Amino acid sequence: MKILGIESSCDETAAAVVEEVNNKPELLSNVLVSQIDIHREFGGVVPEIAARNHIEVILPVIEKALKEAQTNWKGIDAIAVTNGPGLPGSLLIGTLTARTLALLKNKPLYGVNHVEGHAYANWLLAKAPLFPVLALIVSGGHTQLVLFRDHFTYKLLGQTIDDAAGEAFDKVAKLLGLDYPGGPAIAKAAESGDASAFDFPKPQTPNIFDFSYSGLKTAVLRHLQDLIGKDYSFPSFEIAQHLTKNQVYDTAAGFQRTAVEILVDKTETAFRQYSPKSVIIAGGVAANRELRTQLQNRLPIEITYAPPLLCTDNAAMIASLGYYTAKNKQPTDPFTLETNPGLAM
Ligand code: KG4
Ligand code: ZN
Repeated sequence: MKILGIESSCDETAAAVVEEVNNKPELLSNVLVSQIDIHREFGGVVPEIAARNHIEVILPVIEKALKEAQTNWKGIDAIAVTNGPGLPGSLLIGTLTARTLALLKNKPLYGVNHVEGHAYANWLLAKAPLFPVLALIVSGGHTQLVLFRDHFTYKLLGQTIDDAAGEAFDKVAKLLGLDYPGGPAIAKAAESGDASAFDFPKPQTPNIFDFSYSGLKTAVLRHLQDLIGKDYSFPSFEIAQHLTKNQVYDTAAGFQRTAVEILVDKTETAFRQYSPKSVIIAGGVAANRELRTQLQNRLPIEITYAPPLLCTDNAAMIASLGYYTAKNKQPTDPFTLETNPGLAM
């Protein structure tokens, strides 16, 4: 059985093929066209530009994924596509393409959840996670702690009540005058900084497994205004030009340490409460080395994570989730599959 996965929920156009080997998905191809360079000059994703670029590349990306998997349409047994959550226009391109191809090529179609898909990057690894699985899913749009008792049987333990973790990295990077996307830029700057030079507060949330990042972002803003001798009314976009390199490095390191501690504290608490057999981290922020190190140091079992290219947006994770969806669920009607930008887990 071979599944084609299609992903276009944000600014990455991607297609991948997985094949069933020993009752699990094995990656045959993984093609990605990133628009990061296009959106960089705007300091973030511009939705209309993203949708237009998806249209231009989606069919060549799919053809390339089939070719690299050394297969053709005859060899594909089903199509899985991200139909939410994400940017409305971006989701529409992938979903309409998948619906059209499912009809033209007469293939079963499965709409899958992008955030759940992030977790399934870990089912592409040589050793599949063991249930119950505790999953920390941390991306630019989502921050969730989920307990999977089995495929499709899960409990959302907590999620962010304001900003996502990746969003906080991106916003703090902007304050510091660092590159877009902010996560990798903060991680790099932090390598030259002293993580104990500055302390930032960790938030309390009513549900212990919920997350909050807006207070940390504001704390960094106030700290920077203070560092350059200005008050709270000083515009955030003018701060970076007044900072020394070391102030940037130390702030990046202190912020990263705290942002990661928030994730690790809650994951450790959930681990003690639910005693999962596997702990996985997923989503763009799971590429963060400090997160991997801090979490591993706190837990008595080996944590599981995918290579960085399978942590940030990709279609391999969608094909992987598509494989388990095809095994467990009925296909979706290609005439009616809708996009759902606000789709929850
Ligand atoms: O999963 P993803 O590619 O897209 C979403 O679904 O949002 O995640 C992108 C997010 C961005 O906020 C980016 O800054 C963050 O993941 N990110 C990182 C790292 N690499 C990407 N955050 C921290 N450290 C990294 N190394
Ligand atoms: Zn994502």
